[in-house]
Amino acid sequence: MRWIRVLPLVVAAMLMTGFVASAHADGASGNAREAVLIVAFGTSYEKARASYDAVEKLVRNASPDREIRWAWTAHSLLGEGNERRLSPQEALARLATEGVKNVDVLSLHVIPGQEYSNLVATARAFEGLPKGLERVRVCPPLLWDTDSMRDVAALLLKSVPESRKADEGVIFVGHGTHHPSGVYYGALQYYVGALDPNVFIGTVEGYPDIHAVRAAVKAKKLKKVWLIPLMTVAGDHASNDLFGDEEDSWKRILASDGVKVEIVARGLGEVPALAERWVRGLAESPAH
Ligand code: CO
Repeated sequence: MRWIRVLPLVVAAMLMTGFVASAHADGASGNAREAVLIVAFGTSYEKARASYDAVEKLVRNASPDREIRWAWTAHSLLGEGNERRLSPQEALARLATEGVKNVDVLSLHVIPGQEYSNLVATARAFEGLPKGLERVRVCPPLLWDTDSMRDVAALLLKSVPESRKADEGVIFVGHGTHHPSGVYYGALQYYVGALDPNVFIGTVEGYPDIHAVRAAVKAKKLKKVWLIPLMTVAGDHASNDLFGDEEDSWKRILASDGVKVEIVARGLGEVPALAERWVRGLAESPAH
């Protein structure tokens, strides 16, 4: 019977079509020469991804013709088969193999700290390799220069729930770092303080720390504060270090001083104006 003879061909054709379809399932158009690589620290908290999803949506709207990929810089979170769980090195190598020439790397880091420096070094290493990526441009992190500090300070204040009264404190808590750029947090304190004297910047792993912020709240005799993460996502640090029920969480320590604490559990990417501020780095990318 004739159909038995063509069957292997049909199966082979189906397999090949299937192969092509799955190779493109991650969104590759097959011939995109421009890509945006969104790079974040990463999170183990499923709910925290709302922040990443919001940023990705903006990037898709801003760059409809560009391939959009993700990478995470937290090594402990890599390698579980998720498209977002490639390191920047892996993601850039893959784009180069696919024939992409120009990549804008959108860093979802808050300050230009160690993670950001590593990212810039990685981008430089990949730029101009033979048959590889011609240009790899890294967009600035959220806090970068005087303009961004001013903008972000104003946007942070606007992001505070409207029910907050002027005599209530607001504490934005970032990650913090021992990298020299940890001074960005102190600098941001200057900008937010100039707009509203009851707003404070703190960090969980750097300075200003809980002791500094607690002292400031006491000095102002504030009876109520709003505790808000200054982190890309509201993940592990927000849930435990800030809002946890353990005695040493920020919420508990402030409450132990008789201060009423109101929490706002969201990442910076979930504030549309801040997500837009981040993505603006792409629009400023040179035309090519
Ligand atoms: Co950490």
